[in-house]
Amino acid sequence: LMSADGRLELTLTAALAEVVVAGSPVRALTYNGGLPGPTLRVRAGDRITLAFRNELGAPTNLHAHGLVVSPEGNSDNVFVMIDPGGSHDYEYVLGADHPPGVFWYHPHHHGNSAEQLFGGLYGAIIVEDETPIPVTRERLLVISDIAFDANGDVRVASQFDRMTGREGDLVMVNGQVGAAVAANPGDRERWRIVNACSSRYLRLRLDGQRMQLLGVDSGRYDEPADVEEFVLTPGNRADVLVTAAAGESVLRTLPFDRGSTMMGAPPSATSGADLLAFSVGGARAEAVDEVPTQSARRDLRLEEVAGWRTLTLAMGGMGMGGGGSFTIDGRSFDEARIDTEVALGAVEEWTIVNTSTMSHPFHLHVWPMQLIEVDGATVDAVDRRDVVEVPARGSTVVRIAFEGLTGTTVYHCHILDHEDNGMMGVIRTG
Ligand code: C2O
Ligand code: CU
Ligand code: CU
Repeated sequence: LMSADGRLELTLTAALAEVVVAGSPVRALTYNGGLPGPTLRVRAGDRITLAFRNELGAPTNLHAHGLVVSPEGNSDNVFVMIDPGGSHDYEYVLGADHPPGVFWYHPHHHGNSAEQLFGGLYGAIIVEDETPIPVTRERLLVISDIAFDANGDVRVASQFDRMTGREGDLVMVNGQVGAAVAANPGDRERWRIVNACSSRYLRLRLDGQRMQLLGVDSGRYDEPADVEEFVLTPGNRADVLVTAAAGESVLRTLPFDRGSTMMGAPPSATSGADLLAFSVGGARAEAVDEVPTQSARRDLRLEEVAGWRTLTLAMGGMGMGGGGSFTIDGRSFDEARIDTEVALGAVEEWTIVNTSTMSHPFHLHVWPMQLIEVDGATVDAVDRRDVVEVPARGSTVVRIAFEGLTGTTVYHCHILDHEDNGMMGVIRTG
C-alpha cells in the first residue's frame, strides 16, 4: 500500500485466519488475512491513518516499531488497549526529516505480545529514500518463525518457552517456507530484511554472493560495508546490497548461542535454517550506477553528554518450577510508574548491563540509539539502531539524542516473552 499526496489510509484487522504454510492448511493470527500483513510504503512528511479492528479473542494494540512518531494520543501509544471486538483509529505523522529505511508493526499489549507476534501478527513499513539508491530491483524479506501442533493450530508455548523466549521450528520468508528467487549475474539488488521473530536471533549468510550492509534499523553507514555474515536480533532490520554472481546460493540463518536461563539449564535452541534459494544465471545484466556516499551524519560521540545512566537487565528465580523474574533495575514493568525521566534536547549515554546468563536485545521506542561499545569493544562506524544486543554477563553502551518528540513510552527486551514477563520500563521525555 503506497501513500499518495502525503497520505496513506488503510484498515487493518487482526483476526484468526486459515493460511497455507509449508503446503499445509493451518490457522494463524493475521493482519488482513495474510502472512505477513500488508506492506506500508510512505515518505518523510507523510500521514498514516489506520482504522484498526480487533477480531482476536484477546486484547491487543498496534506498535509502529522504529518509526520516529509521537508515542502519545492516537499515535504510537503502546498503553492503548483494544478489547476483542473493539477498534481504534491510529494516526502517525512522520516528520519532514524522518529517516528512510525499513520499519515494522506488531502487537504491543503487555502480557500477550509474544503470543500474538509468534502467531503471525507482523508487517513491514518502508520509508522511501529521498533519492533512490540505484539498484536492479528491491526485495523485502520479512523473516518470522512459527510452530504448529498436529491440529494445525499455532503451538502453545510451554513454561520453559516463556522463560527462554519461544522459537518456532518453521522459519519463513514473507510467510513462505522454502522460498526461491532468481536474478541475472551483475544485478545489484537491495534486500530489506526484517527480523520479525519473537525470540530467534538471525545470523545471516549468503555464500557465493557479495553482500554489503547499508545499515541496520534506521541507521545508514557512510559507505556500504562488505560483510560475510551479520546478526539481526529480534526487532532489528538490515538494509543490504547484494551483487549477484552466477551460481546457486542460499540465504541461511546459522545457529546462534543466546545462552540459557540459568547455569546448567539447557541452552536455548536457536538452530540454523535455509531461508531463501537465490539462483543467478542467464545473460549478464547492465551495470548499475555506483551507490552514492552518505553525506556526513550526526555523530553523538562528538557531542556533549548531559547525563549518564546505567540500566541493569536481570533474570532471577529460574529454579525448578519457578516462573522467574525479569527486571530492569530490579523492577518488573508497571505502566503506572515512570522509571526514567529525560529532558527534551539532552544527549545521554546509557550503559546497559546484563547480569543474566542469556542475551537480551534492548529496544527503546521513538529515539534511536547510537552504538558506542559492546562488551568493551568500541564501535567505529556511526551505527544507529533501535534494538541493540546486550550479551550475557556483558554490557552495551549507547548514546541517545532525546529530541524532536516528547511523551511517555517504553524500553524493553525484544525477546517478547521477556517483555511480557516484565523486562520493560517506562520513559518520559519532556
Ligand atoms: Cu518492536 Cu516495543 O517493540
Ligand atoms: Cu518498538
Ligand atoms: Cu530478554
